[in-house]
Amino acid sequence: MDRIRVEGGNRLKGSIPISGAKNAALPLMVASLLTDGPLVLDNVPDLADIRLLGHILAHLGVGVERAGRELTLTAGTVSDTTAPYDLVRKMRASFLVAGPLLARCGEATVSLPGGCAIGARPVDLHLKGFAALGADIELSEGYVKARAPGGLTGAQITFPFASVGATENVLMAACLARGTSVIENAALEPEVTDLAHCLIAMGAGIEGAGTGRLTITGKPSLGGARHAVVPDRIEAGTFAMAAAIAGGEVLLEGARSEHLSALTAVLRSCGIEVAERAGGMRVARSGAGYGAADIVTEPFPGFPTDLQAQFMALMCLAEGTSHIRETIFENRFMHAPELMRMGADITLRGQSAEVRGVRTLKGAPVMATDLRASVSLVLAGLAAEGESVISRVYHLDRGFERLEEKLSACGARIGRLKGEAQGG
Ligand code: EPZ
Repeated sequence: MDRIRVEGGNRLKGSIPISGAKNAALPLMVASLLTDGPLVLDNVPDLADIRLLGHILAHLGVGVERAGRELTLTAGTVSDTTAPYDLVRKMRASFLVAGPLLARCGEATVSLPGGCAIGARPVDLHLKGFAALGADIELSEGYVKARAPGGLTGAQITFPFASVGATENVLMAACLARGTSVIENAALEPEVTDLAHCLIAMGAGIEGAGTGRLTITGKPSLGGARHAVVPDRIEAGTFAMAAAIAGGEVLLEGARSEHLSALTAVLRSCGIEVAERAGGMRVARSGAGYGAADIVTEPFPGFPTDLQAQFMALMCLAEGTSHIRETIFENRFMHAPELMRMGADITLRGQSAEVRGVRTLKGAPVMATDLRASVSLVLAGLAAEGESVISRVYHLDRGFERLEEKLSACGARIGRLKGEAQGG
């Protein structure tokens, strides 16, 4: 099992190209199930999760071809409407195939994704949305069997709170329903908006993209389209904090500041320089130290849960005390004990963490527990004294494209130890 070795203490200087967003690319790939025409996606990151979803879609009969950054998905016919446990359990986002399968084929049998390291993460809102569109839902032996043999019918769906996945799943289903659907309290995340724009390019009748109220006029069919995946705001935010914790200056090529306003406001309040540049963002820390700030994770445009672990790593070396509250997932502080192994001073109280800044972190062997937690350990390693070795990096490979390469190009001493020791 691969590990990542980081030698701390080098400032970063250079440009980092930001990849297409994993969490946008995944639902966009699934949208290919809604049409028999080819869906050509550009700027698709080459990541383990993308490859896995490619296998799942191929299992359903979708032709999947990659040429460089471009992925062509053609669901001429859907040969199978079942997404089995063995495929779905590896990646929760694969539950998104349920809506398009149900809408196009009148049935979907999809394994319930189950819990994951960061929380229980049910799919009840997805199912309520399908039921509102007229589907018959049955749960049996760990599977959701959704049926609408006569097709789906437009409906008013009000989510009790905004869910990214439920909005995407129900939005895709509603595109092929008879009549008009309204989704109230739709998630505002840029990845949802990116999906809506692609669906519109495929011929869907969607109004209100980017707002909390989506009005969808169902169409009998959708067509193929070309679409470029939005740049990854979480990757950009992670590298912004890499520059902040290590010091130096990086240009994040392609980063969209309007997708990162919660983070940039907090970074500026800590004394980190963040500026918009043509085609990207510049992040720099030239002086000695930086201050602490408090954050609460919230749905977009609030502070993203997917940047909480990285921010905690940053706060470990701040001058002052930071309070961090996680409100999206119930178990998303698994990085804290690992950061403490590097000398961080953190107290956890339920969903809250108090991080008292220390003068130095010390390199240590640490273990990745989930995607964003693992990259927070890399950030801590960049600023720690000595060497850190992060095991279980398969988590990192799910969502960060060429991480070591991008950081090394800016002067970080980071590399991969190929499959040597068992990470557990
Ligand atoms: C998406 O997950 C992202 N994944 C997550 O990124 C991200 O952390 C999350 O949105 C929040 O921004 C993808 O886009 C593939 P939710 P999703 O539905 O769609 C609860 C990463 O590291 N909920 O908005 O699963 C749920 O348990 C990942 O890249 C229900 O209770 O998030 C959670 O507490 C991790 N019932 C909250 O809502 C439901 O039916 C928000 O979840 C659905 C969700």
